[in-house]
Amino acid sequence: MTPEKHYVGDDPVFVMDVPNQESWIGQLGEEISKHRSRFRNSHKINGRWENSYLDIDVVPSAKIPMRFARTAAIEILGMHSVLLFEPLPGSKESLPPFWFNIAKPGEITGLHDHANLSALSAVVYIQADSNAGNLYFEKDPGIEVIPEPGKIVLFPPHLKHGVQENQSNEERISLAFNLFPFPLPMQNL
Ligand SMILES: [Fe+2]
Repeated sequence: MTPEKHYVGDDPVFVMDVPNQESWIGQLGEEISKHRSRFRNSHKINGRWENSYLDIDVVPSAKIPMRFARTAAIEILGMHSVLLFEPLPGSKESLPPFWFNIAKPGEITGLHDHANLSALSAVVYIQADSNAGNLYFEKDPGIEVIPEPGKIVLFPPHLKHGVQENQSNEERISLAFNLFPFPLPMQNL
């Protein structure tokens, strides 16, 4: 497991490929398109829904890249984390800790972070042309990641990031999620 390692200020960002793409990426794409009518959305930014949520039972193939990220966190960072497919136990949150980002041609994702009790954040591309919008981390100097199906990016949850305009002719579809610290924070939720 040899990721590309970049720095944004003092924060490391890792870029690598989730292996065995043929065993999950097409399947996950099918599961998403089959259940699009069941998307739950949390918030709109600039007129578009930022995050689209599905329950894990209708997108079971999402577990494959998510488990890979947990293993990568151990091997690369020595970080033992908790992978959740459902909301953090005891939390008031009703949405699962993973979501899909669907960007139509011309759409962008605004600058944001994932800092919410999590230990590590990740994004995996499911469908994306190379001109479907680079992920960027804004600090001086920042970095950009060109999207590619099967590529995964691991980054600290507090690191601000956004996605440039989708200049391809098809939707960019990515899966984003957070890994949680071990032991799980069970208080003050
Ligand atoms: Fe994000």
